Amino acid sequence: MLIGIPKESTSRNPLVAVTPDSVRKMIALGYEVCVESGAGNRASFFNSQYRKAGAEIGSRSDIWGADIVVCLDMPTDDKLDLMHGGAVLIARMNPAANPEIAENLAKRGITGLAMDAVPRISRAQSLDVRSSMANIGGYRAVIEAANAYGRTFGGQVTAAGKVAPARVYVIGVGVAGLAAIGAAVSMGAIVSATDVRPEVADQVESLGATFVEIPVKQESSDGYARALTDEQQKLTLEVYAKQAAESDIVITTAQVPGRPAPLLLTEEAVEGMKPGSVIVDMGASELGGNCALSQQGKVVQTEGGISIIGYDNLPARLPGQASQLYGQNIVNFLKLTTPQKDGSIVLDETDEVVRGITVALDGEIMWPPPPVSVSAAPAPKAESEKPSAAEAEAAPADEEKAPSPMKGLWWKALLAILGVAIIAAAPSEMTGHFFVFELAVVVGFYVITNVTHALHTPLMSVTNAISGIIIVGSLLLMGADNPVVVALSFVAAVLASINIFGGFLVTRRMLDMFKGSSED
Ligand code: NAI
Repeated sequence: MLIGIPKESTSRNPLVAVTPDSVRKMIALGYEVCVESGAGNRASFFNSQYRKAGAEIGSRSDIWGADIVVCLDMPTDDKLDLMHGGAVLIARMNPAANPEIAENLAKRGITGLAMDAVPRISRAQSLDVRSSMANIGGYRAVIEAANAYGRTFGGQVTAAGKVAPARVYVIGVGVAGLAAIGAAVSMGAIVSATDVRPEVADQVESLGATFVEIPVKQESSDGYARALTDEQQKLTLEVYAKQAAESDIVITTAQVPGRPAPLLLTEEAVEGMKPGSVIVDMGASELGGNCALSQQGKVVQTEGGISIIGYDNLPARLPGQASQLYGQNIVNFLKLTTPQKDGSIVLDETDEVVRGITVALDGEIMWPPPPVSVSAAPAPKAESEKPSAAEAEAAPADEEKAPSPMKGLWWKALLAILGVAIIAAAPSEMTGHFFVFELAVVVGFYVITNVTHALHTPLMSVTNAISGIIIVGSLLLMGADNPVVVALSFVAAVLASINIFGGFLVTRRMLDMFKGSSED
C-alpha cells in the first residue's frame, strides 16, 4: 500500500507527520511512501533526506490519492475530496469534540483513525500522540518560562556575590507536568509540584523535586483526575496561591478529561506573586485555562509585573522533535496493524486500541467506541456484583483459568528429590560443595524471578561479578588430571563468558538508545 504524507495546511503548524527516519521504518514494514514536496521543510527535514530514506517526492494529488494518508490535523473537505473510497486517513481528529467528522468520513467511505483517541492503557503508550505532544510541550513550557523570566534558573556563587536559584512550582503532574519538572530540575531550579493524585509524589521526588501536599486526595486507577467539588476547589486554591507567592515561575498543566481546564490560579493569586514572576498556563484554550488571567496563544503582562504565557502550540515550537515523536507513534501503530510486514494494514476491530481510535470504517460511523477498561488493577467487586452460586456453577471456564496451588509443585518436588539423591551419591569430600551449589541455585532462582524489571541492570552487574569469579575458578581447575573436572570447568568458563559478554552487549544496546537517532 502507498502511504501519502502531505504538507500541513495551517501556517501555525510547522510539524510534519512523518520524518525520514520513520519513512525508513514504514518501508521496512513493506509500505511505499510518497511525501509532498517541501512537507518537512519547516521542521528541518528536506526532500533530499526523504528521497535518501526511500520515499518518492510527489504532488498534492499524488499524496491525497494514496491508500493511506498520514497527517497531523484533520484535513479540510477539499483535501478529503481528493481521497478515494476505501482509503485510510490517520490524523488527530478530536472526535469527542467533533463527532461530525465520523459522519463526514463514513459518508465518503474513508476509514478514519484518530491518533488523539488512543486509550490510555500501558500497551498503547507507544502510540499515544497526546502524551508525546504533552511531553514536548512540558519541556518547552520551561524554556518559555526561562526566556520570559530573564534570570538564571540555577544558583551561582560569583566574585560579585551570590545568585539565588529560581523557584519553580508545577501544578498537575501528568505527562506535561513530569516533563516540566525534569527540565526545570536539570536547569538547576528548586522545583516543587502538586497534584490531586498523591500517587505521583514518588515520581516527583525521583526527579529531584519536592511534592507539596494538598488537602484534596483522589484515588485514580487510570491516571486521570476527576472534577473537584466547590469546597475542594476552595481548599486547593488557597494552597496554590500560597505556593505561587513563594515561587518565581508557576507552570500549570492540570486537566480533567472531557471538561474545561480546572481553575488553579485566581486573579488574587496572580496579584500575590512577586513582580517579574512568570506563569505558563498549558491549559489555556478558548474555554479559559488553569489561570484566570491567561489568554490562549498570547502573553499577558499584568500591572503587577507578572508575565502569563498562554501558548497553545508549544510542541510547534520544537518542530523537529515533535515531528520525530509523532512519526514514531505512527510507526508503532503500523507495526501493530501490519502483522505480516507486507505493506497491508489490517484493522482488527476486536483489538481495543484499534477499536478505540476507529471513527469510521467501510462507510460506517464507529464513534464513540465502547469504553476501555483502563484500570491497572481490577477494582474489588461489590457484594451485589459477586456471582451467585448458579452463575459460579455456570462458569467452569473461569474456574479452569484459576491457578491451582498444586500447579508447578510436582517439578519442584522432583528437583528436590534429585538434589538430595546427588548429595547422597556424591563422594564424602564433595558433599559440602554440592550442598552449597544446590542452595545457591535455589536462592538464585527465587532472587532473580522476584527482582523487579527496574533493578535488572544492577542485578546484571552482580551476576557479571559472580561470572568473573566462576571464570577464575574454572581456569584454576583446567589443569586438573581428571578429564571430567576439565570438561566441567570448560563448560563453566563458556557459560560465564556468555553472561559477561552478553551483559556488555545489552549495556551497549541500552547506551545506544540514549544516543540521538540519525535523521541524516
Ligand atoms: P495529564 O492528564 O497527563 O495530566 C494532568 C494532571 O493534572 C493529572 O495528573 C491530574 O491528576 C492533574 N490535575 C487535575 N486537576 C487538578 C487540580 N485541580 N489540581 C492539581 N492537579 C490536578 O495531562 P497532560 O497530557 O500532561 O496534559 C496537560 C495539559 O497540557 C492538558 O490540558 C493538555 O491539553 C495541555 N497541553 C498543552 C500544550 C500546549 O501547547 N499548551 C501541549 C500539550 C498539552
